[in-house]
Amino acid sequence: MSKDIASAKGKLGILLPGMGAVATTVIAGTLAVNKGISKPIGSTTQMGTIRLGKRTDNNTPLIKDFIPLADIKNIVFGGWDIFDVNMYESAQNAGVLDRYLLEQLKPELEAIRPMKAVFDNKYVTKLNGTHIKKANNKFELAEALRQDIRDFKAKNNCDRLVMVWTASTEIYIEQTKVHQTIEALEEGMKNNDPNIPSSMLYAYAAIKEGIPYANGAPNLSADIPALVKLAKENKVPICGKDFKTGQTLMKTILAPGLKVRSLGVAGWFSTNILGNRDGEVLDDPASFKTKEVSKLSVLDSIFEPEKNPDLYKDLYHKVRIDYYPPHGDNKEGWDNLDIFGWLGYKMQIKVDFLCRDSILAAPLVLDLAIFLDLAKRAEMCGVQEWLSFFFKSPQTIKPELLPIHDIFQQEMKLKNTLRHLKGEELITHLGLDYED
Ligand SMILES: NC(=O)c1ccc[n+]([C@@H]2O[C@H](COP(=O)([O-])OP(=O)(O)OC[C@H]3O[C@@H](n4cnc5c(N)ncnc54)[C@H](O)[C@@H]3O)[C@@H](O)[C@H]2O)c1
Repeated sequence: MSKDIASAKGKLGILLPGMGAVATTVIAGTLAVNKGISKPIGSTTQMGTIRLGKRTDNNTPLIKDFIPLADIKNIVFGGWDIFDVNMYESAQNAGVLDRYLLEQLKPELEAIRPMKAVFDNKYVTKLNGTHIKKANNKFELAEALRQDIRDFKAKNNCDRLVMVWTASTEIYIEQTKVHQTIEALEEGMKNNDPNIPSSMLYAYAAIKEGIPYANGAPNLSADIPALVKLAKENKVPICGKDFKTGQTLMKTILAPGLKVRSLGVAGWFSTNILGNRDGEVLDDPASFKTKEVSKLSVLDSIFEPEKNPDLYKDLYHKVRIDYYPPHGDNKEGWDNLDIFGWLGYKMQIKVDFLCRDSILAAPLVLDLAIFLDLAKRAEMCGVQEWLSFFFKSPQTIKPELLPIHDIFQQEMKLKNTLRHLKGEELITHLGLDYED
């Protein structure tokens, strides 16, 4: 039986805290697609397909034709930044998209300006901005964000809103008492508790307003018991953390292949050089630590060394990120894998991914917003594990559960969730589909 899903008619507003490289690339890209200048390559909601029924049925529609998703023609963008520059200027500063494309989108991009941000340079030490809200305490700052959300909705005539964090990676913070309950969190906000960074205030504001929230960076943000509980209470779907692009995307494509062939891995050395503002922020050891924890977590859950000690127990995994301005947004991710096969004979794999960070991340922002909006209309709330497909460090429904990192398992979970919502038979690839 298919689930009742409310209509996707009307405007969907996508709110982006942090309007730098990733944000401007998704905004400009969506405008370009809507103007027929380009195709939405890399977007699962726009280009992905879904098989229905048996293989012999030959029925594989586009996902967007199968389930009611917001039409990208009905999307409006808004957000916050610590720099008061419009999206045309911000995209130029980011240096991701070429001038020829930006010129064609100039009036629409210039019309989008960031709202004043909630920001404290204690949490992103490399940045200093002036377009910042002032208030007596963090609770008041969150209230100001809530007012921004309501004003944006009314001004832009939106039916529904979604928020996706595309701001800088904050310093590493571990969960403490203040994160455990809503009461403790609100009390902490009023007392300016140092363990409540800006990203948590945006997440709190969104959830309080009943707006789905996704976290594209590795900082805690909504990944604390208090906000997970609030999300359930307010019937809000949330997900995170850290967009899976570049090197980690490659890792979670390669590692499952080695594992299913029972090939051993002795070492996996990964290094990145990048020269955008994200790279500069990550040059600060405290922000890098947040990213490192997120990047390191993927291999263990795929290789499961405790279940496969002969193959993976001694795996040496090292991740480095270095700020290298000449590369700009064109990140280079090098991987050296020391693997071993039959009789322990050693082999090596080298991957040199010359990628474009924001080009890989932009479609994920769009997909997350559109799928979270679907989840909300389908009355799904709390952590949406089926959206793990998009994250390096997926948030799980219970803290003790290990996240799934294998991209193929993640894809199966995502598509089976969509099939389930529409009352279609789940596909388990058990091989019985050739039967009558
Ligand atoms: N591009 C990728 O492939 C990728 C992958 C995974 C995660 N991410 C994460 O996405 C985020 C955005 O990346 P980017 O390349 O666009 O970075 P960016 O530096 O170009 O943009 C981030 C923007 O956030 C703003 N900002 C910082 N703190 C803010 C706050 N509290 N409120 C409002 N604005 C704030 C900054 O001024 C900046 O304009 C980063 O956290 C990055 O780690 C990116």
